Amino acid sequence: MCGIIGYIGFRDSKEVLLKGLKKIQYRGYDSMGLVIATEQGFKRIRSVGDVRQLRNKVAKQGSCSGSWGLGHSRWATHGAPSEENAHPHKAEHIYVVHNGIIENAEELKAWLKGPFLSETDSEVVAHCLLDSYKQKGSLKGAIFDTISKIKGEYAIAVMSEKYPNELFAFKKGPSLLVGLGEKEIFLSSDVQVFLPYTKKVVFLQDGEVAHVEGENEVSFYSEGGEKIEKRITALDAKAEETDKEGYPYYMLKEIYEQPDCVLNVIGEHIKKQDVEININKGSGILDQVIRQKRLNIVACGSSYYAALYGKYVIERFSRVFVEVDMASEFRYRSPILADQVPVLLISQSGETADTLAVMKMFQELSLPVLSLCNVMHSSLDRGASAHMYMLAGVEKGVASTKAFTSTLVTLFLLALALGKKNGQLGGSEKEQLINSLLSLPDQMEKILARTQEYVDAAHLVRALKSFIYLGRDIYYPLALEGALKMKELTYRHAAAYPAGEMKHGPLALVDENMAIVGLTPQSHVYKKTLGNLEEARSRKGKLILIGTEGDKVASSLSEYFLSIPACNEYLSSILCVLPLQLMAYHTACALGHNVDQPRNLAKSVTVE
Ligand code: F6R
Repeated sequence: MCGIIGYIGFRDSKEVLLKGLKKIQYRGYDSMGLVIATEQGFKRIRSVGDVRQLRNKVAKQGSCSGSWGLGHSRWATHGAPSEENAHPHKAEHIYVVHNGIIENAEELKAWLKGPFLSETDSEVVAHCLLDSYKQKGSLKGAIFDTISKIKGEYAIAVMSEKYPNELFAFKKGPSLLVGLGEKEIFLSSDVQVFLPYTKKVVFLQDGEVAHVEGENEVSFYSEGGEKIEKRITALDAKAEETDKEGYPYYMLKEIYEQPDCVLNVIGEHIKKQDVEININKGSGILDQVIRQKRLNIVACGSSYYAALYGKYVIERFSRVFVEVDMASEFRYRSPILADQVPVLLISQSGETADTLAVMKMFQELSLPVLSLCNVMHSSLDRGASAHMYMLAGVEKGVASTKAFTSTLVTLFLLALALGKKNGQLGGSEKEQLINSLLSLPDQMEKILARTQEYVDAAHLVRALKSFIYLGRDIYYPLALEGALKMKELTYRHAAAYPAGEMKHGPLALVDENMAIVGLTPQSHVYKKTLGNLEEARSRKGKLILIGTEGDKVASSLSEYFLSIPACNEYLSSILCVLPLQLMAYHTACALGHNVDQPRNLAKSVTVE
């Protein structure tokens, strides 16, 4: 989950690298580093923390300008976040930045000489290259030799003091792109690094090697070492320059952007008051779902919880059977993949390693893959056979908010579209559901206007160390998401259960120190859920309930009541996410945490 950058060109590479690192630090912010070829020789600067700390350290070094260099943002896998473990790693004249995991690092360490100065798996690549270099006599030869020796997943960029104005890059797994500008060449894990300078990109495939020789020349090689021609893609993407626009954190800004995100999704898939799912290249995939009466959905984290919501709505409105899996589990069990049944892969970043591994499994069986991504041109977006987009705009906060909500709304519309196609959803019910959806952005605005309520709720729960989130049916996936937001941001223990499961075990946890966050809007499970919540209250749990405006029963049961406007239950569940996000956000702020960069996490999970 690290990010890598390389640059050769006419600009001050220090600035290109530092600006680029700021853009990719969502991939890891526990340490940063760069190496620059300056007139006074190579300068390697590394620091613990995010790009601000690195910039300070670079400033203290005095002059460190040069026209080529490498940069790295780290999310620790092997070895604690420390300066020694930060990249670039070095073996004599060779410098390496790496994203991924070298699975046979220990075996390689056992026969390479070292000295190894870090606890990382990445440093072994530098030593492996050095060893191969000594045998082969060229860095290019050493690269191919090293590729044949290392196992695992990696995107790697290399430079050497003996090879002025040259960079090498190779990958297996994580994304690695080459940006081709006018008299400048970029290597990066993410197009955003070079979009301000060029829109021309070459996407490296697994096993391929890029060899940059100066600011104008780059050659590509297959794994076998033959020179190959690569397609240059002209991106239609824009450089995403976002700032906090006066909000203290990106996350808060993103929470407040949600009504607009919902409007974007509505604009994409509703035409003339009817649902018309917009699937880029391959709309036949929905007909295939209808024919097979089955759909697989696979994702991780919040995207997985959104997928669970998808199961409830798709089965309810179209009677298509939906199987939902976590990508990290799916890839290692022996799933029974029915012939012709498509998979929907959901990923905000489109770079989640486990989800990409599942894409590969489906592709190997020639099964159709529909993606739902927020990042265009991401690995998932490029690899899928048919595409939908979250249309949430750049999401910077590590804890997902607006991309999650956009995903829920997209899945709601997918459910209606399938129900319409196979005749399971009647015209008038569909009309009512669409009308209800059209009111959602305004209802969200109302919820977002009540800041003080969430601050007060946060004040009430900030001292509590444990949270249980409860919901039934369509509210259960939202309970899972609420608990995840609370864990990520406050570092408090939070678990979610279907409310009816409490008496089968978790009720034993409840006492006066336990916060019980219950989702109880009016719905077909309202009374049952309230009953379960009463049971928790009888055991002295502190009830914070999210329910429908004017619900005196739920309000009188709770220590704190957060209300949402009345609407259809398949949409009120979406409204619930706003109080859940805001309560977690304000609790984390009250505890003094950095909400945008929770400890131990990264935005894009590019390792297993
Ligand atoms: C939680 C969160 C994560 C992601 C998960 C999958 O707030 O953001 O759980 O949802 O890492 O990421 P994507 O959707 O990029 O595949």
